[in-house]
Amino acid sequence: MISNFKLKPDTSWDFRQEDTKYYSHCFHNYPAMMIPQVASRLIDLYGKNAKILFDPYCGTGTSLVEANIRNINAIGTDINPLARLISKVKTTPIFLEKLHLEILNFRNCLSHYFMNIPIDFDTPDFNNILYWFSEEVITKLSVIKKFIYEIENNNIKNFFRVCFSETIRDCSWTRNGEFKLYRMTDKQIKNFSPDVFSVILNKISRNLKGLEIYQNAKKNMSSSEVYDFNSVKSIPDTIIPDNSIDLVVTSPPYGDSRTTVAYGQFSRLSNQWLDVSNASEIDKISMGGTNNKNLTKYNFKPLDNVIEDILKIDSKRAFEVNAFYHDYLKSINNISKKIKPFGYVCYVVGNRTVKSFNLPTDKITQFFFENNNFSHIYTYIRNIPNKRMPSKNSPTNITGEIGNTMLNEYIVVLQKK
Ligand SMILES: C[S@@+](CC[C@H](N)C(=O)[O-])C[C@H]1O[C@@H](n2cnc3c(N)ncnc32)[C@H](O)[C@@H]1O
Repeated sequence: MISNFKLKPDTSWDFRQEDTKYYSHCFHNYPAMMIPQVASRLIDLYGKNAKILFDPYCGTGTSLVEANIRNINAIGTDINPLARLISKVKTTPIFLEKLHLEILNFRNCLSHYFMNIPIDFDTPDFNNILYWFSEEVITKLSVIKKFIYEIENNNIKNFFRVCFSETIRDCSWTRNGEFKLYRMTDKQIKNFSPDVFSVILNKISRNLKGLEIYQNAKKNMSSSEVYDFNSVKSIPDTIIPDNSIDLVVTSPPYGDSRTTVAYGQFSRLSNQWLDVSNASEIDKISMGGTNNKNLTKYNFKPLDNVIEDILKIDSKRAFEVNAFYHDYLKSINNISKKIKPFGYVCYVVGNRTVKSFNLPTDKITQFFFENNNFSHIYTYIRNIPNKRMPSKNSPTNITGEIGNTMLNEYIVVLQKK
């Protein structure tokens, strides 16, 4: 039953002013990251005896880290290779002595560069590379890349790749504080001369500290597995058998990547430098990335009516909105089968506005799960004080017309019957 009871934000979920970068949570920025305190509290509330947590849109693995700290094994999946890399590194223990040695080797390699000792490296030549990086930055990144690719230990190599990825973004001509790939102005470019080697060394020492603290805190053998399956299509039984998951803690995308958060664009330069073959395709394969020929009938008025209303004004937008919820429903149907009886799902969602119509994703999530034999337990509403995501957009899509959106997040909790 969907009630119309209007809840107010519960400020105890805001975690305003709190450090959200403790443990390995400091490793890499990413759009719309979950606040670790939210994952942590949800696991404490709904995962008391949980053995296995699943995050079907794991991004950078916030809920996987928090599960492992509590001796709960975790499975994550994400279609973005950069997100998978970050999740894996954040949850993989590394033999610290070996890591320290490799960092020393890295410093030596950089000093060879400054002493003009020849280093034999290749520079990548992906499309538009000179549009995003100066030649000097490309050379220095190539030196770093060569060093990283010669590291033998895979876990250590991946640790460096994560530091490398953020360095790529920081030293490129992408504008700060944007999710989409926007180039700096010519004036900004003129005044921009990043010290590539210092940037990566700072990331390495920050991440090393985070890793040490994480490894000291995690005194158990739990682990995380990170996959690339797409829950919209199917969830392999060999990886997750039916009725096997105790708890889902996740934050799905807010809508299709074109009009909400473009995870693929955010990650593209990193993915290209890291030799990901489909680096430019990520947004297309994410939820709602491909339109359907017909509009879906959801049999849920708050969704069907809004899509009808948008259709009257802008049919393209109506089909885009439909594509997202069409995939979202399929994903929820697949995920539901994997949850144990009495297991919990906790979905952190945002209710966005399209063409001035509000899409109640919290109620939609509840309805989709209720149709899969789940009971609604509670919906917490939190203010969004510190999440990296747009708080304003243009709901009418008229340039310059700004509306508030996503000032709140809804944490929808349901239990399988
Ligand atoms: C809100 S973010 C998750 C953030 C994550 N909770 C964190 O703390 O970093 C949503 C994620 O869903 C991923 N995604 C989009 N469509 C997907 C799909 N069909 N299957 C799996 N992941 C998908 C995106 O790549 C993105 O990383």
